[in-house]
Amino acid sequence: MVETEAKPGDGPVILGIESTCDETAAAVVRGKQLLSNVVASSMDEHARYGGVIPEIASRAHAESFVPVVSKALADANMDISDVDAIAVSAGPGLAGCLAVGVSGAKSLAWSAGKPIYGINHVIGHVGVTQLQFGDLPEDTLALIVSGGHTSLLRVRNIATDVQVVGSTLDDAAGECFDKVARLLGFPYPGGPYIDRHGQQGDPTALKVPMGLTQGRAGAEHPYDFSFSGVKTAVARWVEARRAQGLDVPVDDVCASLAHSVATVLSRKAIDACKRFDSHTLIVGGGFSANSQLREALAQAGRTAGIDVRIPRIALCTDNGAMVAMLGSNLVQAGVAPSALDFPIDSAMPLNRVSMS
Ligand code: KG4
Ligand code: ZN
Repeated sequence: MVETEAKPGDGPVILGIESTCDETAAAVVRGKQLLSNVVASSMDEHARYGGVIPEIASRAHAESFVPVVSKALADANMDISDVDAIAVSAGPGLAGCLAVGVSGAKSLAWSAGKPIYGINHVIGHVGVTQLQFGDLPEDTLALIVSGGHTSLLRVRNIATDVQVVGSTLDDAAGECFDKVARLLGFPYPGGPYIDRHGQQGDPTALKVPMGLTQGRAGAEHPYDFSFSGVKTAVARWVEARRAQGLDVPVDDVCASLAHSVATVLSRKAIDACKRFDSHTLIVGGGFSANSQLREALAQAGRTAGIDVRIPRIALCTDNGAMVAMLGSNLVQAGVAPSALDFPIDSAMPLNRVSMS
């Protein structure tokens, strides 16, 4: 018998739809091959408010849904009849935004007679790495860092078995960067500004605390994070300088903050890999675009002999490919589609991969 090896493009054709926050996105994958990936962002409309305004984002989703989905199908050279199933983010995210994407996806599924999967957006950030690096190892660890989440997940099987190993007790890493950026006068979202300025500064200039790494709190929360104390410490330091009439060395502040956050994230993620005997670390979410984190993880991974998989930036930030890829995993694992009346869940637990 001749054995044939599965190619990335073998498998079901899935249309993935994403609308958890400010990106309306759609993509088509076949198996583990990306055929199209379209993203429309309403970020420019939020920037002047200093954060995402849910009503504005929801309206933008309603306007972008049809053009974005149509373009994703057209770019893949397909129409809806070529699709085997539709996947859509059912949570976690902003309720109004989720409602627009999920009702649009349900209407499409119903009219075209296709099965639909309401999937967990955060687990989509794990699954998307398969499009760049191939199959996930069977029992692996994942670090998902974004503006809304900072979580360590143990992924035994992406379609059926995901457990939370640790998460932030307060702010997410991206949120912490965005708040400090605001204090320093950068526009929203400020994470990328901290990154850029931090590359030119001295990371030892300020002593920024590393939350939950030491003493009893560290022992009780080995894989949890806390970034609100980090934000407060930096804010106090900056305010004290200003009160004394001294200049704020912005590059040094950014470098010190980035160093602290990247060190804690990479140290705890690698520790968790060792504890759960995983030789691979999957990294995802918008904050994984951060250059200090990428560098810290690459270095820690090399030292510990762990294969760190951080996808290209377009796959780190919110997109439709992550939703379609997880849908593909669910279909291939034989998981039943969601009922057509499945609800959205803005606080969808991270151990729930899809809606029943
Ligand atoms: O996953 P994402 O696109 O949206 C959600 O929050 O779900 O992540 C956005 C977050 C923002 O907080 C943004 O400031 C942060 O990711 N971010 C960065 C960088 N690029 C995006 N933070 C630090 N350095 C970056 N290069
Ligand atoms: Zn996200």
